Amino acid sequence: MQELLETLSWQIELIKVLKKRQKRSVLLLTHRSCQFSFELFKDIDWTHIPFGTKRLNQDDIEKVHQQMNLQYDAIVSVGGGSVIDCAKIVKHQFFSTDSFHVAIPTTAGSGSEATQFAVIYDGLQKKSVSDIFLRPDLVILCPPLVQALPPSVKISSGFDAWAQAIESVCSLAATNESRHYAALAIARMRSHLEGFVREARLDQAKEIQLAAYDAGRAINISKTTLAHALSYYMTAKYGVPHGVAVFLTLPSVLAHYPISPYLLEICGMSKREDLINELEVKMEKFGIDRRLSSYGMKIDDLPYMVDVALNSGRMDNAPWKASKEELIALLRGLL
Ligand SMILES: [Fe+2]
Repeated sequence: MQELLETLSWQIELIKVLKKRQKRSVLLLTHRSCQFSFELFKDIDWTHIPFGTKRLNQDDIEKVHQQMNLQYDAIVSVGGGSVIDCAKIVKHQFFSTDSFHVAIPTTAGSGSEATQFAVIYDGLQKKSVSDIFLRPDLVILCPPLVQALPPSVKISSGFDAWAQAIESVCSLAATNESRHYAALAIARMRSHLEGFVREARLDQAKEIQLAAYDAGRAINISKTTLAHALSYYMTAKYGVPHGVAVFLTLPSVLAHYPISPYLLEICGMSKREDLINELEVKMEKFGIDRRLSSYGMKIDDLPYMVDVALNSGRMDNAPWKASKEELIALLRGLL
């Protein structure tokens, strides 16, 4: 069972947790921009490995492994989705299954802190690893960590979490529990994402962190669907930020999905068109270009992009069993 702690001072909370659980040797993976006060932690043997990667691959894992020089009883990850995913895979490959993983997200979007999945790339091909032992044992949410992120990061991360929550509700694998988490996430995103981007108050940062966490809890059960499947190649090949890539097709995907009264209700809408319109308007408000061609995508790229989506493993849960031709037509309409 995963535990959640909310705090305004993550380093103080972390030291309390590690002392209480008698963790003496800790592998610390952070994004390279993360500031860390080791004086607070002088009773603990640390190996600190700062790194930053857009697409985690097995070479990153090997580099971490080469720097490991102790028998660790805990791993702490402080960073965005790729740092947390790296810690998950390192723990899976090199630690015993009962070792302790604390995840401290520094972006509010991927929800990786809440899931048993990790994303790792083989070239441009995205692979998702899934195992119950990948799920962090403890999550520490600290709003100041995300409060001052650049607007572009807040938008992309927020769109990712919002889309994950909507796709989760639509997923054929959704349950009452996942729908509950997704509803919480959608309500928070609708109310607070714009304020979080433009005003960046602490209370708004807290709401968006919780939204991302709840969206993560939702997809941990339901997984994502077609809009995510179509996004992977856009990110890997054209560098479109993940959340933006997902949002580019989400309105068109929703035009084809069966839309339940439940989804409309939790989005505060009475019909499908309003739900779609809200997402399109939000992109325009944030200055996101909705044309695929503006990111360099061309008509000849579409068949391969669709092949990647169809092989992504995310289509099984999609409530619209689209053919390759139908998906190419959908993308062509967005060029
Ligand atoms: Fe995502």
